[in-house]
Formats: sequence, structure tokens, C-alpha cells
Amino acid sequence: MIKLANFSSIFIANWKLNGNTEFINEYYQKLLPNSKNCVVVCSPSIFLNKLKNNNKNLFSGAQDTSIYIEGAFTGELSAKMLLDINIKFCLVGHSERREYFNETNETVNIKSLNLINNNIIPVICIGETLEQKEKKITKDVLTKQICESVPDLSNFENTLIAYEPIWAIGTGLTPSIQDIDEVHSFIKDIDIRFNKFKVLYGGSVKASNSAEINSLKNVDGCLVGGASLKVEEFNKIIS
Ligand code: PGA
Repeated sequence: MIKLANFSSIFIANWKLNGNTEFINEYYQKLLPNSKNCVVVCSPSIFLNKLKNNNKNLFSGAQDTSIYIEGAFTGELSAKMLLDINIKFCLVGHSERREYFNETNETVNIKSLNLINNNIIPVICIGETLEQKEKKITKDVLTKQICESVPDLSNFENTLIAYEPIWAIGTGLTPSIQDIDEVHSFIKDIDIRFNKFKVLYGGSVKASNSAEINSLKNVDGCLVGGASLKVEEFNKIIS
């Protein structure tokens, strides 16, 4: 498993359902090497081994994995297969998967466990909806998501948490800097076992706000969607 402690920050590009061979070839040509930060590109799974890597800080990551280990499950992709092609990171429980593909805290927990058992770091995504924020129940929502989604086997060395307020994803809206700091510190204090976990922020991160967000003491990196599709913009974010 990758040693997360070796990196000051972790930046993850989430391409979602975007990209093609030409786009990827150009992207990897233009992506700038980074000596201190860990950079992960989560491309659609068919392109996972397009990264011909000679940079020790750059990794290809998956966007999802199966709850199953192997067998008659057409269309699925197991953690063991990801390990087989040398994948080190995998997103789990992204809000789009929770919303459109019936992902639950329970399935996130199983997937994360499968990944850890295959030496792959799950990036467990949590976040509240706008309605939950307005009802002022964000902390209850996050506590339940964390407690149910993070497997007992998880620790700060084998698991990452990504806090992504759902209302901030793809909208251009972000919480205030103070709110991001407060929520990240809250997450680390939910239980003593989460104290040392690295917590990434996601939701409308772009070159113009990433430095300020990432400078917060409780923010250990960023998960970037839309802005990660423009390599020049992503280069600024990771620099
Ligand atoms: P966004 O997406 O950066 O486009 O808001 C983030 C994400 O969905 O992970």
C-alpha cells in the first residue's frame, strides 16, 4: 500500500464519465510532475492502465469497485482486478453513485474493505445535501455516513475520507473557508480513531480557490471533478 504519510497533500482528479484515448494521451503528456504532492487521476475504468508512469507521485485511480470478490456478476470490476493492474486508489461512495446507483453506507463499507484487503486505498466520499444543510443536520448526516461507511479495519494509513457537500458538486458554489475548516475538524473528531485520517475537500474546487482551501490545517488535499478535465487548470491546482 502507498505510504500516505510521504505526501504533504493529495490531489485527486475525478473524470467521471468523460474522456477518450486522444484526450488521455494529451492529458498525460501535459500533466506536470509533482515532487511533494500525491496526484491521482481517476479515469473511467477502461482507461486505467493508460498511465505509463515513471513519476513516483502520480497514480491512476478507479472510480468504483464491486462489492463482490469474483464470480457470476456481469459488468463488475473487483478490487483484486484493480490490484492486478497496479491500482493504488479507488473512490467509493461518491454522491453520484449514492444517488443514481443505489450505493448505501453498507455497500461503501463492503467495497472499502475489499479494497483494503487488496492493498488499495479507498477514498470514502461523504457529504450533505442542500436540504440537510438548511435543516442544520450536516453533522448528524456526516457522523452516520462515516460511522457506517468506514470499515473497522480502516485507519489513517489505509483509508482516505473526502468531504464533498453535494450542493457544492458541479455548481460553482463552495462552503466558506471557515465552514470547510470547521467541518473537517469535526470529521476528525467524530471518534478518536479518525483523528489522524487525511480528509480531502471536494466540490467546485478550481485553480482560483484550491490554494486557500488546501492551506487549511484540517484539509489534506482536494478531490476535483470538472476542473480536473482541463489539464492546464489541474496543473495549477496541484502545483
Ligand atoms: P466538481 O466535482 O469539482 O465538478 O464540483 C467534484 C466531485 O464530484 O468529486
